[in-house]
Amino acid sequence: MSRGLFITFEGIDGAGKSTHIDGLAQALRATGRVVTLTREPGGTPLAEKLRDLVLNDAMDPMTEALLVFAARRNHLQQLIEPALARGELVLCDRFSDATFAYQGGGRGFDLQVLNQLEHWVQARPGGLLQPDLTIWFDLDPQIAAQRLSGVRVPDKFEAQPVDFFRRVAEGYAQRQLLQPGRFARIQADQPREAVWRDVLAAVKHRGFLP
Ligand code: TMP
Repeated sequence: MSRGLFITFEGIDGAGKSTHIDGLAQALRATGRVVTLTREPGGTPLAEKLRDLVLNDAMDPMTEALLVFAARRNHLQQLIEPALARGELVLCDRFSDATFAYQGGGRGFDLQVLNQLEHWVQARPGGLLQPDLTIWFDLDPQIAAQRLSGVRVPDKFEAQPVDFFRRVAEGYAQRQLLQPGRFARIQADQPREAVWRDVLAAVKHRGFLP
């Protein structure tokens, strides 16, 4: 049986991840592998309920951090780890880097506490469970704001000012500095075809696609 593979997708709101996640799922399925597409917060019935609270209800940053990690624990237990154990590919729209970027960077919440929560939820006998690859769609927050404006009714995060997203982007940059090998940083301000070409290149470079 092939080894399971865990790929996550990150970036500020408006960075344009979605079509590429779907495209990559198709490309990987075409190689005969079983692909599970999922997202955070969410991915299980319980985690989707927590998502609804996190995205829509006012709360302090610690409550936000606790809820996203509670959702993550359930998601890992119920869906991600069983799929990886079966040798499947798991593509997840956001994971812990989003917590460090949004709650840590955006909200300014204590990174030490986030590290502690990450250890509680992701420590495994072999070490910290982390994605095999994180594709980071890096986009200037000003451009992201233009893309998002008027598209639909914004949720709690999408409604934040550009300065919030500057801090979120900085949070992602810090995460990449700490774990450079795991990240593929994609310039998301390019035309869609060029972004897609870079996504494919990152996955092929690691031998995850022929
Ligand atoms: P999305 O699924 O539409 O990208 O929205 C999820 C939102 O939740 C997005 O604005 C980022 C935010 N979020 C956090 O604040 N912390 C987290 O840990 C995760 C996974 C997402």
